[in-house]
Amino acid sequence: MDFCRFLEVRLEEIKRKGLYRERIIVSDNLKDFSSNDYLGLKDCKETKKALCENIDKLSLGSGASQLVSGYKDIQKELEEFLSDFKEAEDCIVLGSGYLANTGLIQALTEEGDIVFSDQLNHASIIDGIRLSRAEKVIYRHNDMNDLEDKLKKSSGRRKSFIVTDGVFSMEGDIVNFPDLKFLADKYGAVIILDDAHSTGILGDGKGTVFHYGMKPDENIIQMGTLSKAIGSYGAFVCGSRTVIDFLINRMRTVIFSTALSPVQNFISLYNLKIMVSQPFRREYILNKAEYLAENLRKLGYNIEYRGTPILSLVLGNEDKAVRFRNLLIERGIFIQAIRPPTVPEGSSRLRITVSYKHSQNDLDYLIDTLKKLRDKL
Ligand SMILES: Cc1ncc(COP(=O)(O)O)c(C=O)c1O
Repeated sequence: MDFCRFLEVRLEEIKRKGLYRERIIVSDNLKDFSSNDYLGLKDCKETKKALCENIDKLSLGSGASQLVSGYKDIQKELEEFLSDFKEAEDCIVLGSGYLANTGLIQALTEEGDIVFSDQLNHASIIDGIRLSRAEKVIYRHNDMNDLEDKLKKSSGRRKSFIVTDGVFSMEGDIVNFPDLKFLADKYGAVIILDDAHSTGILGDGKGTVFHYGMKPDENIIQMGTLSKAIGSYGAFVCGSRTVIDFLINRMRTVIFSTALSPVQNFISLYNLKIMVSQPFRREYILNKAEYLAENLRKLGYNIEYRGTPILSLVLGNEDKAVRFRNLLIERGIFIQAIRPPTVPEGSSRLRITVSYKHSQNDLDYLIDTLKKLRDKL
C-alpha cells in the first residue's frame, strides 16, 4: 500500500468514529466562546501602543536557543517579574506550555522515580511522563483518597512527584490543592503544578497556590502559560534556584529549541502588568461565567459554575457535539466541539469560555440561542 493511501484509510477511520478534525477560521462576525483569552488581553490596545513605541529597540527573533545566544534582557526582565509575582526564587521562560511540561517532567525524573498524575491532566503532562523513565501512576480525578491509597502502596522511591493541573482545562474545576499538598508533604513528594488556566485568574492572578491562601515552597514547582489569560505566547516554570538551575542544564526543550522572540516577551511582560493592575477584568469574567451557568441551568442544561471562566456542557456523543457546534456557527456563535482524545470517550462536549471581550448582550444572545436550540439536542 502506498503511503498516502495508508493515511487516507486512517483518516476514513477517524471520520467514521466522528473524530475528524478541521481547523476553522473564527472570523470577527462570529462571537468566540472558545478562546482561552479570558481577560481579553490578546488584543490589548495599551500593549499594542507600547509595542509600536518600542519596536525599534526589539529584535524580531531571538536568533538562537537560550544557552547559545538567544537569552536577552527582556526575557530576564520577564523572568524577574514572574519570580516576584509567583513568590518563587527563580524562573525560566520558554517556548510554550507543551514544551514546558514535556521538558520539565522528563528533566526532573529518572529511572526508579514515580509520578502520580491526575486522570484528567493535560496531554502535555501525559506526554512528559511518556518521555520520562519514571513509573507512572494515574489517580482518579481530584480524588485525594485514591491518591493517598496509591502513595501508600508506592512508598520508598528515591523521588516521587505529584503532577496536576491547577484548573482542569476541559472541566473548569480547581484542584483540591490544600489536601494534595498535605499528602505530598506526608509522603515526601514534589508537586508539579500546571497553572496554565489559573495564571491571571485565580488568587488575584497569581495562581492556584495563592487562591487557597497558601505560599509556594521549594517542593512546589509552578508552571504556567503566557498564552491564555495573559494573551501572549510562551510559558514559564517558577521554583527554587536549584530547580531552575537544574532545568537550564537538563531541560531538552530549552537546550535544543530557539528562545522566544524579544517581541513576544515584551508583549507577555506588558500584558502581565496590565493583568495585575486591572483586577476588574478578572472579576467581570467570573461574575459573567456564574451568570451564564445559572441561566443555562434554568433552561435545563447540565452545566455548573466552578469558580473559573470555563463551563463544560457535556453532550456525550461525538456527532451530537459537532452538530450542535455547527448549529451555533449558523447563528453567529463559535463554540468548538471537544472530542476524544482531548476528553474521555463518551464525554464529548461544548467547552464554553467567558472572556472580558464578551458584552452582556453577547452573553444574553448566547443564552437566547441555546434556549431556541434546546429541543434540537
Ligand atoms: C493545562 C494545560 N497545560 C498546558 C497547555 C499547553 O500550553 P501551550 O498552549 O502554551 O502549549 C495547555 C494548553 O491548552 C493546557 O490547557
